[in-house]
Amino acid sequence: MNPLTQHPPPTPFRTVLVLGGTSDISHAVTARLDPPPTTVILAGRHPHTLTAAATTLQRTGMHVHTASFDATDLAGHARLFTDLWAQYGAIDLVILAAGVLGNPDDCRPDPTTALEVITTNYVGATSALLHLTPHLVTQGHGTVIILSSIAAQLPRAKNPAYSSSKAGLDHFSQSLADQLAGTGVRLLIVRPGHVTTTMTAHLPTPRHAVHPANVADAIHKALHSHKRIVWAPNRLRWPAALLQHLPPTLRNRLLP
Ligand SMILES: NC(=O)c1ccc[n+]([C@@H]2O[C@H](COP(=O)([O-])OP(=O)(O)OC[C@H]3O[C@@H](n4cnc5c(N)ncnc54)[C@H](OP(=O)(O)O)[C@@H]3O)[C@@H](O)[C@H]2O)c1
Repeated sequence: MNPLTQHPPPTPFRTVLVLGGTSDISHAVTARLDPPPTTVILAGRHPHTLTAAATTLQRTGMHVHTASFDATDLAGHARLFTDLWAQYGAIDLVILAAGVLGNPDDCRPDPTTALEVITTNYVGATSALLHLTPHLVTQGHGTVIILSSIAAQLPRAKNPAYSSSKAGLDHFSQSLADQLAGTGVRLLIVRPGHVTTTMTAHLPTPRHAVHPANVADAIHKALHSHKRIVWAPNRLRWPAALLQHLPPTLRNRLLP
């Protein structure tokens, strides 16, 4: 292991909290953790689907609990995280996966969907980070995996609400990571491209699409490095940088 480029393996994540507990990507990430966590808390909006997800994960030997979490219920966030930390003592890893894609052409015909996307992916996600990171700082350690997106770097005519919400979350997380330096708390920002999950099931699958397990592999590797931002897959990084600097008309023509 090269000590300049690699961290030693992270301390085992004994207790893991998943915000957006039915997310396909989060399940792949949780299943890839090595060693496996002892306890996983799946937090989300729908008790039935959370229970089904919990049953599947339990087969791998983890203790899986569920909790109620709605990213848009800003008033409930402070209490939720206080209660979770009171109940579990320490939470070693948080996976922030809650997100909605909205419609293609997400600002029309009315702004309702666009505002829901922004409220969930940006306002709700940053609210969760603001309320949970003080608990990590108090316990003196912790990692947060933040599901951003390649869209954070590529503003698109097709979905302004989604790409701007992810850009906001991505920038916020980078600044917060700077603030948290030296506290023992690490934020890992993940920028996947198109991943074949429930979120994208209604869309045509592009050639560069990957599976949730590929995202989990990229995250697993990044957890053993000093990286703050991880592309999933890594090969998207340079094309995204190039596309970002193209004139918007050309960029919009090239993007799927
Ligand atoms: N799939 C992709 O191509 C892709 C690419 C880049 C980034 N991402 C990001 O990766 C994350 C996980 O997505 P995924 O692909 O795993 O899709 P997914 O399976 O559809 O998961 C999305 C999760 O977000 C939850 N959610 C939505 N609105 C919520 C709210 N108001 N409060 C709490 N939870 C809420 C959903 O829960 P419900 O059951 O309540 O709907 C679901 O658990 C998302 O943030 C997404 O933007 C995905």
